[in-house]
Amino acid sequence: MKLRGYSVVLLMVCSLAPLAVAQSGHSNLNASPTNEQYVPRLGDIMNAVQTRHIKLWFAGKAQNWDLAAYELDELRDTFDGVGKLILKHGQLSIPQAIAATVKQPLDALAAAIKAKDSPGFVKAYADLTAGCNACHQSAGHPMIVMQVPTVSGTAFPDQDFSPKK
Ligand code: HEC
Repeated sequence: MKLRGYSVVLLMVCSLAPLAVAQSGHSNLNASPTNEQYVPRLGDIMNAVQTRHIKLWFAGKAQNWDLAAYELDELRDTFDGVGKLILKHGQLSIPQAIAATVKQPLDALAAAIKAKDSPGFVKAYADLTAGCNACHQSAGHPMIVMQVPTVSGTAFPDQDFSPKK
């Protein structure tokens, strides 16, 4: 038990140290390059999450289930990575918050995509979006409000979302 607690603390220290370096590097743009591994910040990763959240919608709406499955995998991998890379945001445990807010809707989306179930997809997508907002509220960022994309057509004019014939 004791050893276990110790390794958890060690893990946290090891994961946070490069983060601190990456963050201090932020205000020191002219510093010469180092061998420190770049660790992206949560807000930057969230930009990738946002892109995939949007693309997932357009793929599902076009009933391009292969693409929807791909975008969902990317989204899940991104959340998996975040949960391992960034353990805390203030007092909030990121892995726990992911499990509490978006894990269930992501599973429901996987099931809907597998079943090519459009109404199920729309419902699970709305739940996912509510999960995004639940975490933003818990994380002290209630002003970051996600919604189901409102444009018709796609927001990515350089990508074809229609299913392969
Ligand atoms: C585990 C908690 C958590 C979940 C789940 C989560 N977010 Fe976030 N998100 C955050 C936090 C914390 C920030 C603020 C990061 C910062 O600035 O340090 C953020 C910021 C953002 C931002 C602002 C980034 C910017 O630069 O404008 C967007 C957009 C965003 N999230 C989209 C989403 C979407 C879409 C989902 C759901 C698919 C989602 N988030 C799920 C915690 C979460």
